[in-house]
Amino acid sequence: MNQLASNGVLERPVKKPVPAAASRQTTARTIIVSNRVPSPTEKAATAGGLAVALADAATPGSMWFGWSGKRAHDTSTKANITVADGVTYATIDIAERDYQQFYNGFSNAALWPLFHYRTGLLRFNRPDYEAYRTVNRAFAEALLPLLEPDDLIWIHDYQLMTMATELRALGVTNRIGFFLHIPFVPPALLAVLPTAAELVAGLSACDVVGFQTVGDRTAFLDNAEILLKTRPDKHGRYTYNGRSVHAVVTPIGIDAKKFEQQALRAEHSADAQRLEESLGDRALVLGVDRLDYSKGLPQRFDAFGRLLYAFPQHRRCVNFLQIAARSRQEVGSYQTLRRELDRRAGDINGEFSDFDWVPLRYMTHPVKRNAIAGFYRRANIGLVTPLRDGMNLVAKEYVAAQDQVNPGVLVLSRFAGAADELTEALIVNPFDADEVAAAMHEALVMPLEERVARHDALLAKVRTSTAQHFCETFIAYLRDPTRN
Ligand code: ADP
Ligand code: F6P
Repeated sequence: MNQLASNGVLERPVKKPVPAAASRQTTARTIIVSNRVPSPTEKAATAGGLAVALADAATPGSMWFGWSGKRAHDTSTKANITVADGVTYATIDIAERDYQQFYNGFSNAALWPLFHYRTGLLRFNRPDYEAYRTVNRAFAEALLPLLEPDDLIWIHDYQLMTMATELRALGVTNRIGFFLHIPFVPPALLAVLPTAAELVAGLSACDVVGFQTVGDRTAFLDNAEILLKTRPDKHGRYTYNGRSVHAVVTPIGIDAKKFEQQALRAEHSADAQRLEESLGDRALVLGVDRLDYSKGLPQRFDAFGRLLYAFPQHRRCVNFLQIAARSRQEVGSYQTLRRELDRRAGDINGEFSDFDWVPLRYMTHPVKRNAIAGFYRRANIGLVTPLRDGMNLVAKEYVAAQDQVNPGVLVLSRFAGAADELTEALIVNPFDADEVAAAMHEALVMPLEERVARHDALLAKVRTSTAQHFCETFIAYLRDPTRN
């Protein structure tokens, strides 16, 4: 039977503890848990920051646990195991109905819009939330038999916010970490969600909870204080249900060196050559995103239109290429966005095209990472203008891909987590089309000396705050309960 804790949060009863394994390992294994698990053979093709940032954490000996990508008749109770390059991939299938309600429903029609400050797009209903809890429980139950007592469990992202509650209810005493890849919202916004307290309690069942920015961590701690009556210390530590929880800031990054080399090689690839031939000596403005309303694509198209309108000297001299990989296409708001972008792209090209120049190129199929690396390197402007974003790795990839002696300019939204670090970019408010257009103009006419100075500073940061650094820092917190 479920019990109601003093703070009103539904607790699942504690079951028997995990039995000690016959052979204890000397070094604790890391178990990465995420909804989406990259295929061991197709890692490079996955669009989305999580897979890119975690590729480095999946070291030999570790395990990656999550959804198989398959929708089945029933949600699996037992994981399917594959081993590749020393990494164990353990995956479960999700029942079609659970998938609709857990993934398309609560995760992507309630949590995603809310955590990106879009309450107007939020669709909440109880059955979807129940399915979310059911799938989180299924994840916990299927992981349980695979656990060794010393394993460090590292859960990722908003699809799995209640999984730690379920693991604790099953008696798991391992150290559990959680990292949120997307923003966290202040109490006035989270209050919109009727089940907010259970989500905050889910994260508070972990030992370490990580966020992309100081602002996200502060928002989380404020919510925990209000919803769970916690009292955090100056290090972001608090006690909940008799356990210590540590909220930390560990921004994600990329494998900068590898990406620099990839971009250098890709400069002469067939795809890059084709792009070059099509551009001639025109400047290139480049956007690379999943097709998602958080990325501010309609506003970005409008800003490009404003550039051509307000700075006519750039007409015929610049092309904007927007690569927007289709994403979550079964969710209504994503379908609406796609229609909206088709219309706006048509408006801009109808207004400004000439018989031998079409200003905006817009494509919605995924592009190989290698090709993207070469396109970044060619681009005079990396246009990264989300309305709200946890981090935004595209911004970091763009910086890493540049030619250091003749770099392009990053135009970056102040509402991307990356703006906290990448302060030498041209920082803009993506809601202000005129401001973004002015920044594009500034970038297009910026003297080489200033471009190099800005880029040098940005590259130093991207090289320091890498994916490896992210993984090591988080795991260090998870290993050491006293680390501040
Ligand atoms: P998110 O996690 O919200 O998708 P990020 O910018 O953090 O956003 O990460 C996106 C990652 O996916 C980057 O590594 C980027 O290169 C990749 N990506 C984005 N769009 C595409 C695309 N159209 N085709 C292939 N990869 C893409
Ligand atoms: O940025 C949030 C995020 O969940 C990433 O962690 C993930 O890589 C990306 O969105 C893709 O989402 P989905 O798995 O729904 O395609």
